[in-house]
Amino acid sequence: MPRGSLRLLWLCILLLLLLLLPLPPPLPLAGALGHRGPAAPRETAEEPGRAGQAFRDLREGLRAAGALSRRYWALFSCRVWPETCEQDGTAPAGPLGWSLPLLGQQYLDILITWYCSFQDCCDSGDCRISNNFTGLQADLSVRLHGQHLARELVLATVRGYLELPQPDKALALSFHGWSGTGKNFVARMLAENLYRDGLRSDCVRVFITMLHFPHPKYVDLYKEQLADQVRETQARCHQTLFIFDEAEKLHPELLEALGQHLEHQAPGSPGAESPRTIFLFLSNLGGNSINAAVLGLLKAGWSREAITMEHVEPHLRAEILASTDSGFGHSRLVKENLIDLFVPFLPLESRHVRLCARDAFLSQALPYTEAALDEIARMMVYVPKEGPLFSSQGCKSVAQRMNYVLP
Ligand SMILES: *[C@@H]1O[C@H](CO)[C@@H](O)[C@H](O)[C@H]1NC(C)=O
Repeated sequence: MPRGSLRLLWLCILLLLLLLLPLPPPLPLAGALGHRGPAAPRETAEEPGRAGQAFRDLREGLRAAGALSRRYWALFSCRVWPETCEQDGTAPAGPLGWSLPLLGQQYLDILITWYCSFQDCCDSGDCRISNNFTGLQADLSVRLHGQHLARELVLATVRGYLELPQPDKALALSFHGWSGTGKNFVARMLAENLYRDGLRSDCVRVFITMLHFPHPKYVDLYKEQLADQVRETQARCHQTLFIFDEAEKLHPELLEALGQHLEHQAPGSPGAESPRTIFLFLSNLGGNSINAAVLGLLKAGWSREAITMEHVEPHLRAEILASTDSGFGHSRLVKENLIDLFVPFLPLESRHVRLCARDAFLSQALPYTEAALDEIARMMVYVPKEGPLFSSQGCKSVAQRMNYVLP
């Protein structure tokens, strides 16, 4: 059933509940009639007056019901979103002196359980937020190929951050590497495992520089829109994820404006209770130095899995800081250490491309042969020219190449 009609159904049930409840003081209409008695001759003359009275009575009745439903709503929302509730959840006695009957209380509990089964609340707080670290770990180890550094760093950092009782700043991760190495893929895995609705969640925002902020002359407008969207999303969810694809192309002023969202919040300052927020920046920046470092180590006889952050990160940082065609390295994000972690995505070899091809077959439930996987891996372009080793496109467009090898 679509959500809209469920919401409607819920409203209907609430109304029904109200009808079943004893309504406060009898409507004055009955009393007025009793006093006056059946005064037959004046009946016609009084018709408009009585109709007016009936209307007023109906209005009073509806108003009382309205007050009642507001009380129900207050109780309901206190239960479901405790943080929006000023008191301890028990609303004060209203003007009608009405208190929630025991039966109503039980209805309320049933209602809440039922409402929460498809809406935004759970015992744990918010059903839109799933934080499935088991799922994340499984995805990172089964579906992501050739990225042992990213696999461990991303899980440990994100998990550590989300389990902090009271983080005083947003978490900012910056993914670097050639295209097709899995940066977008990991961003999607995060969205899918941390949020019930994945990238479509109202707690997640994706910004693609050339799509959302294409014209430098509108940068002031973009700055405003971006700040609004961050604020709105944070107001809607107590755990948010912002993904910036093509971060190396972000306008310097936009990067500057993002700085305020990544700063430490002094305890007690207005923004101090800001929700848990993760910023992901994806870029190709630094890809060349990562590849050079990895190539050097492999040639020196290292196994890929033995490569550590210490081998790669200094080169990555150096390239980011030295880059002149991107504002990223010169922004406050990098200069003031507002990025918590630079995550290197290593260049992929043909055995990784094979695994990507296998996953593509499996995901479409298509049969495949080892020869077909080899064939797809062979279609990619490898670099460097003297001793081809790394796929220049990573696993990008592997899925499209399946068509060429299908029987
Ligand atoms: C977490 O993800 C795993 C793997 O995708 C899934 O089997 C499991 O049911 C999920 N757990 C929850 C609580 O959603």
